Amino acid sequence: MPAPKIEFRNVTKIFHTRSQTIVAVQDYSMQVETGDFVSIIGPSGCGKSTLIRMLDGIIQPTSGEILIDGQKLDTSRRLPRDILRRMGFIFQKPNLLPWYTIRQNIALPNKIMGKLTKEDEAYMDSLIDMVGLTHYRDAYPVEVSGGALQRAGVVRAMVHKPEILLMDEPFGALDEMMREQLDIELLDIWKNLGITIVFITHNVEEAVLLSSSIYVMGTQPGRLLERVEIGLPRPRELGVITTERFAAYERKLTGLIGKLELKNIK
Ligand SMILES: Nc1ncnc2c1ncn2[C@@H]1O[C@H](COP(=O)(O)OP(=O)(O)OP(=O)(O)O)[C@@H](O)[C@H]1O
Ligand SMILES: [Mg+2]
Repeated sequence: MPAPKIEFRNVTKIFHTRSQTIVAVQDYSMQVETGDFVSIIGPSGCGKSTLIRMLDGIIQPTSGEILIDGQKLDTSRRLPRDILRRMGFIFQKPNLLPWYTIRQNIALPNKIMGKLTKEDEAYMDSLIDMVGLTHYRDAYPVEVSGGALQRAGVVRAMVHKPEILLMDEPFGALDEMMREQLDIELLDIWKNLGITIVFITHNVEEAVLLSSSIYVMGTQPGRLLERVEIGLPRPRELGVITTERFAAYERKLTGLIGKLELKNIK
């Protein structure tokens, strides 16, 4: 058995602020196999972003271990470039620079990270075509839609051919139709490139549509409550949303999260 692509072993992260101690993540364990599509859902403040930020080495765990391809990360310092290069990060806001075109924005971090060869540029342009941004590549961010900006964020994270994509509520700000469209495009990219994806969302429907398994987290302290396997066949089309099996998964997850939210109100 090959080692999991990503593994969290009993990871805890405690923040100490001036006035309080916050257990952002408590004793969290997760194994993501190579080529898997895994989602993490849970109420605001349950530690979802903290998990991803521990993977880019910006936040160090208080205890526990994180492994990539079976290799333990030295989380006590900034991660080495060869490990960072295996990952691509996509956040809720694409944060494009307004004075650069879409294509220049996509190229920028890859230029900063090292070289951007002619081959890399050709690959970048093929990704731009793949997500339907061809006509916008020379436009400025202010001239394009929110969906196009998010697509640019996805391409930007993929130019250096990461093996892992870490996505923190990437489509959360989009309307439902646009989000569904980008979800389906993301499934195509995932299938075509064989990458491993960890996806954070608030949206139960989106998590069921995309994932092979869903990690449901609770809050105070942020922790894993349940892992739900999604046995829907692939490839998945949007039509799957209307099936009874899909609805059953949605009910199960909404029930788990609903209970959490009620507890918070008390
Ligand atoms: N740098 C920090 N210093 C202190 N506390 C922090 C820091 N970062 C996060 N926290 C706290 O840790 C907890 C988890 O935060 P986190 O951002 O991971 O939650 P989340 O699940 O991503 O929430 P959301 O769904 O709102 O994005 C929260 O209580 C938050 O206030
Ligand atoms: Mg977050």
